[in-house]
Amino acid sequence: MTKTIKFGIIGGGLMGREFASAAARWCHLLESDLRPELVAICDTNPAIHTWYKENFPTVAQSTADYKELLANPAVEAVYCAVPHNLHAEIYSAVIRAGKHLMGEKPFGIDKAANDAIMRAVAENPNVLVRCSSEFPFYPAVQAIGKMIAGREFGKIIEVETGFLHSSDLDPNKPINWKRMIEFNGEYGCMGDLGIHACHIPFRAGWYPKNVRAILRKLVTERPDGKGGKVPCKTWDNATLFCEAADPAAPDDIFPLTVKTFRIAPGEKDTWTVKILGTEKSAFFSTKNPRRLEVLEYTGGAGQSWQQIDMGYDTAFKTITGGIFEFGFPDAILQMWASFLYEIGHGAPKELFAGCVTPDEAAASHRLFTAALESQRTGKTIPLE
Ligand SMILES: NC(=O)c1ccc[n+]([C@@H]2O[C@H](COP(=O)([O-])OP(=O)(O)OC[C@H]3O[C@@H](n4cnc5c(N)ncnc54)[C@H](O)[C@@H]3O)[C@@H](O)[C@H]2O)c1
Repeated sequence: MTKTIKFGIIGGGLMGREFASAAARWCHLLESDLRPELVAICDTNPAIHTWYKENFPTVAQSTADYKELLANPAVEAVYCAVPHNLHAEIYSAVIRAGKHLMGEKPFGIDKAANDAIMRAVAENPNVLVRCSSEFPFYPAVQAIGKMIAGREFGKIIEVETGFLHSSDLDPNKPINWKRMIEFNGEYGCMGDLGIHACHIPFRAGWYPKNVRAILRKLVTERPDGKGGKVPCKTWDNATLFCEAADPAAPDDIFPLTVKTFRIAPGEKDTWTVKILGTEKSAFFSTKNPRRLEVLEYTGGAGQSWQQIDMGYDTAFKTITGGIFEFGFPDAILQMWASFLYEIGHGAPKELFAGCVTPDEAAASHRLFTAALESQRTGKTIPLE
């Protein structure tokens, strides 16, 4: 029998609604032994509450105060999707209230905030804490994950991951909280996009040993939406050049490049991963969401990339036919299936079918903090 986990949402904006919508179509999943039920919503903006009231009769509590939601004994788990400056306070409070937490990235506005969240995690081992990152759930990336786990690449030659946007190319786009350093943090584009780009290499065990970062501020002021202009102080683009190694071959250092661009002409919301190996290479980009590219090298001069249409081959089985396309809301649903699977089973279904762990999020903070230092000093900064 399917057991229900009662959820509260803190921060019901763009991402809060994506979760609520995924919960509303849980019947899409065929094998889930747990299902979420939305019972409480917290947002300081009263206008946000209307959509939840109209669509979720199960929501018995609507509040502007997250402490009221956490005091609700009916709430067993929380999705927290608020601006980055609030992560440390609210995530720590959720965990200390004994509720399971899916927190949004970057899991703290900076390293000090992340350290505070990690203290709450360490004190509460019975609470499942995960960080949202949905892109590995694309079928092509699940296939790449199986290749990594099966050690099919041979010697790793190079790994490149990226998350590229172009919406900020327009200098007349008004500023919002995601471009304000006090709400988004000094990391800028790294905090916004970086965990997504780190998820696959970190899960593979390819942690950076050092970083030389080149960060860009391309648009230094933006319209304030009231007829004036304000400074835009966040980093727009980051390229992190790192050395990494596979845990099975620790002396075999390869280049790992992580790119997070808010200003990448032609890219709307492009998440990419490219792994070059001596025996196999693979590439995926959300630009072509069903396409997996693979090159198998069996010797000789001939080498060719195959383009494979992946269809709907997901980690968590659904009602959708195998030939159909997979998209962003599907990745969100799969990520949530993974979170509930971990609540029920204590471990991810497969290595690459799991959400970002607190340790992985903490490793991303070490990387981004070192990247800021590298930009300041022009030096390569070692990481543990
Ligand atoms: N996983 C992804 O793909 C993805 C995509 C976009 C954003 N995000 C992350 O999600 C989080 C939220 O981003 P968003 O795009 O949903 O932002 P958003 O601005 O659309 O929503 C944030 C909501 O938080 C509410 N809020 C602010 N202060 C609050 C408080 N004290 N208590 C309760 N609610 C409060 C706001 O009113 C707003 O409705 C961020 O951490 C962001 O980095 C993740």
